[in-house]
Amino acid sequence: MKKYKLAVMGNPIAHSRSPIIHNFFAKAVELEISYEKLLVPFGGFDETVRSFIRKGGYGFNVTLPCKRDAWSLADRLSSSAAEAEAVNTVLIDNNGFLTGENTDGIGLIKDIEVNLAKTIPSKKILVLGAGGAVSGVMKSLVDRNPLGISVYNRTREKSEKLAKKFSGRVEALDLDELADDYDFLINGTSIGIASGQINLPKRILDKVEFCYDMVYDDGLTPFQRWCQENSKCRAYNGIGMLVEQAAEAFAFWFGKRPETLPVIEKLRKEN
Ligand code: ATR
Repeated sequence: MKKYKLAVMGNPIAHSRSPIIHNFFAKAVELEISYEKLLVPFGGFDETVRSFIRKGGYGFNVTLPCKRDAWSLADRLSSSAAEAEAVNTVLIDNNGFLTGENTDGIGLIKDIEVNLAKTIPSKKILVLGAGGAVSGVMKSLVDRNPLGISVYNRTREKSEKLAKKFSGRVEALDLDELADDYDFLINGTSIGIASGQINLPKRILDKVEFCYDMVYDDGLTPFQRWCQENSKCRAYNGIGMLVEQAAEAFAFWFGKRPETLPVIEKLRKEN
């Protein structure tokens, strides 16, 4: 049986759970894969990719901070990747030609709508952050027709830029403009990992149905902890999104979408 050579590239990379997830998927659909973690040195993304192609690579995932580099390097882009200006999945053809895809947005939507069984249409959403992680999923969120999406970011220029791109569907707000009737809160800042100060007014939690942190951590993220300490709502981490975006990547490579719930349960138990 053919063995497909896969990898995840980023920096840092040691913490990545992608190898566990993709090995689980491959076993479930009876495909032989090898899946390694490749640490990308500063400024060395293109060379890491070229070397991987020379060694017979079939496809790879891209994580922080290389998603934009992958978008620049790809020879062809899916519409999601072009829209997000970021690539998290690449397929390499026999001539070394690279097709870039972005599965982060669909991964977030699948986790919220299918796994957590929440409806997005007609809900009022507050998104925290306006960096690469948020830009990558915004189109998918907007396409689900929420009542409105407000974005708060420490650096106002970035949230304004995002609001301009989705004019009429997304608004940029300052801290003192935040409302007290959001249905969902989605954290896309890196405070979840960097453990910075959370400096948000507690009123934003008054009506929330649930909070979602796009990152994950061993145990609760700082954002999950803040939500749970200040309200009765459930706060989820991004493990489900991670597995769903991986399943979409796997389907992009092999045309088969594996079951995700067994892997999500496995990772939650290990957390
Ligand atoms: P990523 O690709 O993970 O989104 P990024 O593009 O560097 O990385 O964006 C990080 C996000 O987290 C940004 O929205 C950043 O806010 P700024 O645009 O003001 O930098 C936000 N962020 C990081 N540390 C933060 C902190 N301590 N408090 C508030 N926001 C923070």
